[in-house]
Amino acid sequence: MPIKKLLVTGASGFLGWNQCLLARQEWDVYGTYFSHPVEIPGINMLKVDLRDFQEIKRIFHEIQPAAVIHTAAQSSPNFCQSHPDESYRINVTASCNIAGLSADYSIPCVFTSTDLVFNGLNPPYRETDSVCPVNHYGEQKVMAEEGMRSRYPMTAVCRMPLMFGMAAPTATSFMQPFIKALREGELSLFIDEFRTPVSGTTAAQGLLLALGKVKGLIHLGGKERVSRYDFGRLLVEVLQLPAAGLKACQQKDVKMAAPRPPDVSLNSSMAFGLGYKPLSLREELEALQGKV
Ligand SMILES: NC(=O)c1ccc[n+]([C@@H]2O[C@H](COP(=O)([O-])OP(=O)(O)OC[C@H]3O[C@@H](n4cnc5c(N)ncnc54)[C@H](OP(=O)(O)O)[C@@H]3O)[C@@H](O)[C@H]2O)c1
Repeated sequence: MPIKKLLVTGASGFLGWNQCLLARQEWDVYGTYFSHPVEIPGINMLKVDLRDFQEIKRIFHEIQPAAVIHTAAQSSPNFCQSHPDESYRINVTASCNIAGLSADYSIPCVFTSTDLVFNGLNPPYRETDSVCPVNHYGEQKVMAEEGMRSRYPMTAVCRMPLMFGMAAPTATSFMQPFIKALREGELSLFIDEFRTPVSGTTAAQGLLLALGKVKGLIHLGGKERVSRYDFGRLLVEVLQLPAAGLKACQQKDVKMAAPRPPDVSLNSSMAFGLGYKPLSLREELEALQGKV
């Protein structure tokens, strides 16, 4: 049997890159990039502007993928807040088109949504809870979720938590700037913003699981709820970083374009029941020693 083809959009991004590294063990992986060319050993890379429907149609036709994992997005809430129309085209229009083509080809389609579809006032959030985003990024992800599911109800809509881990040559997670700031001086982190983070590797495992087992919504959060500040403390301890510069602050102390919810912790028991197994945050960070 020839090995099956998997299309991963956003392979030059943090999650897409981690996804390609994991998926290449079992799939013939085709990864897309747009403005950041990157080579990944064993992966067929293609430059695609996913805002252009003709380009998406062309790659589906050329590759004939057996499945799609769609991670490409404008992933910065602050950018989306100040550029709502520009970000809508990649976050909503492109996502709906990918779902439509996946329906035409009758192949599994996995979408990376976000915990920021919630307002953070009633955590932990289950799949059955109503969405209530507080910024444009969250609103766009809600529109993409709904648009994709209406075009293709089989879409696996995976709500991702905050993610950290090995940086791609072309993209980092939030943790690399944290480490740099700690080494160079001072890092202030929120004591009043809570998430259920996982590493990019764990998230990628969850997305492959969803590809095989999920139709509809699923939460892929980690097992621990943690504030940004306590995550920073653990990071300092496990990676033996200088602790002196780590300071606590509150959301109200930092002015940002996009409003931020206080606690979008996910209840991911449905995914745990399907075999999704995030490690503890300490174990995740220990596994990253020497790699970040
Ligand atoms: N990171 C997190 O903590 C987090 C949390 C929750 C959900 N998510 C979601 O998870 C997914 C992955 O996030 P990430 O952090 O890996 O994002 P990222 O590092 O910002 O990567 C975004 C990717 O999207 C691609 N892209 C952007 N515009 C494009 C366009 N017009 N055409 C084609 N490709 C385009 C980028 O390509 P180029 O760079 O080559 O232009 C890049 O590969 C996103 O859907 C994000 O919303 C992320």
